[in-house]
Amino acid sequence: MAKVLVAYASKYGSTGEVADAIATTLRNRGLDAVAQPVESVNDLEGVSAVVFGVALYFFRWRGSAHKFLKRHHRTLERIPVAVFGMGPLEDSPDQYTGARGHLDKGLEKHAWLEPVSVTVFGGRLAPEHLRFPDNNPAMRQMGAVDLRDWDEIGKWAESLVEKLDDAVQGKHAIEAQVR
Ligand SMILES: Cc1cc2nc3c(=O)[nH]c(=O)nc-3n(C[C@H](O)[C@H](O)[C@H](O)COP(=O)(O)O)c2cc1C
Repeated sequence: MAKVLVAYASKYGSTGEVADAIATTLRNRGLDAVAQPVESVNDLEGVSAVVFGVALYFFRWRGSAHKFLKRHHRTLERIPVAVFGMGPLEDSPDQYTGARGHLDKGLEKHAWLEPVSVTVFGGRLAPEHLRFPDNNPAMRQMGAVDLRDWDEIGKWAESLVEKLDDAVQGKHAIEAQVR
């Protein structure tokens, strides 16, 4: 059975909740999937595929996300990786296109990575949880927002089952030929 790690870089928890939902969907489809914050991933031993989630802040990735990819570069270039970014707080095409651009810009720093799928999900803002310097008047003024669409998230996770499994099978086939 393919072991899938859903590794996420989050500041206020909403990316972690999406990662948990993805792991649950993958488990329901028979994969051995767990969600874990990138900061607590020491090694990728036994992991056959990774779903990597990153929250965007001020047009950039959380720094821990870059560190994770750098640290595990050698393993990640040999296994399938799917990527999701979080997340616009306004439901307009411009916001999603912009976020996708910022997600892709981060990916460009890791040109060796060839994700099997990349997507952006709407984000969540809970103003009462914001800490300095995020708790500035402009952010607080936005009020509470939650654009996470759990159906869409579930569908994307479903779409990964075959891709991750196929890719894992494909890698095994390549390794078998080399031997
Ligand atoms: C200070 C601040 C800056 C943000 N900047 C961006 C951004 O540049 N692009 C974007 O798409 N979302 C941005 N967001 C929205 C977050 O990505 C969204 O709230 C996400 O769900 C946060 O994930 P987390 O709860 O896992 O930290 C920002 C949120 C805050 C509070």
